Amino acid sequence: VDSKTGQLIELHEQAAKLYHHILVNTEMGQPALDYLHQRGLTDATIEQYQLGFAPGQRLLKPFFEQRQADYQLLRQSGLFIENTQGELRDRFTERVMFPLRNASGHVAAFSGRVLQKTEDQPKYLNSPETALFTKSRLLFNFDLARPAIRQAGEVTLFEGYMDVISAAQAGVLNGIASMGTSLTTEQIYAIERTTDKINVCYDGDTPGQRATQRAIGLLQQHSHLQVSVIQLPEGQDPDEYRRAHGDEAFQQVMQSAKETPIRFQLRYLRRERALDTDSERLAYLNDVMPLLAQVTEPVALDLYLNQLASEFQLDKAALVAQLKQVRQSTA
Ligand code: CTP
Ligand code: MN
Ligand code: MN
Ligand code: MN
Ligand code: MN
Repeated sequence: VDSKTGQLIELHEQAAKLYHHILVNTEMGQPALDYLHQRGLTDATIEQYQLGFAPGQRLLKPFFEQRQADYQLLRQSGLFIENTQGELRDRFTERVMFPLRNASGHVAAFSGRVLQKTEDQPKYLNSPETALFTKSRLLFNFDLARPAIRQAGEVTLFEGYMDVISAAQAGVLNGIASMGTSLTTEQIYAIERTTDKINVCYDGDTPGQRATQRAIGLLQQHSHLQVSVIQLPEGQDPDEYRRAHGDEAFQQVMQSAKETPIRFQLRYLRRERALDTDSERLAYLNDVMPLLAQVTEPVALDLYLNQLASEFQLDKAALVAQLKQVRQSTA
């Protein structure tokens, strides 16, 4: 760790402490604290994740100036916005603050959430890329989750910070999140050094399903990984599910709702199809064939073929023949 990196980390750790102090100890932080309590977070969880609040006024700038922090260091931290005169002001205002820690457990960036969604503000605002923070590398909660991932022998990948935090409060401690819905190859490299079993538990809504489809594709390029999908009902996200059904039901669904990627994809591919005409049914079966062609376990393949044959009232031998054609044409 060179001294500049160390100084930037120190800056972030101090900022996290200050945001947290504002949230839990001040009048200014009260609405944000109420908000987090309403969202079902306990004080212990708020403490553990060092959640904070950036109020709607200058906070970090006077704080660091009083401490004679170096101007260039402040500029490079990403915690400020610079105007054309080179003047700095706090980047985060009126937001609930989520410290983003790197794999060594040091605060490297922040994400701030608005208290109320509006049209003109992004729901989450992240730190820009800095010497400390590369969005495509960071995995939220990886530092805290690593022992639990080792112990469970598997990791669960969520979409959002609130999903990870909510899961942890319910005792599911092996959860991590990529930054938004786009999992990257660099993140997969980091994960596979700790475990080869990954559960993808993204939101049940359409963007979440699309992201699941994409993540499966990426993960399957790493053939030693064992991938499962957990899809929550009714378009819910994991945090919404926990709040609607409670901690115990949440733990249960994390265990029992696991399905194979193929099972997820069979459902995903038919989701916008009415399947009420022969041409739609044939198109669906055509979509499905390349998936089935990848299934290497004979029993699993037989299971899927039997189900398709009975659902579409087909001769299984016809499906097998078509599958053979697909395999030959892609071999
Ligand atoms: N995200 C983002 N910027 C946005 C919206 C989303 O960076 N404007 C990222 C965040 O990392 C967020 C994730 O995408 O956690 C998932 O988005 P979404 O499902 O919309 O948010 P939730 O995690 O469900 O957030 P909340 O429950 O607080 O509404
Ligand atoms: Mn505290
Ligand atoms: Mn989502
Ligand atoms: Mn969500
Ligand atoms: Mn949510």
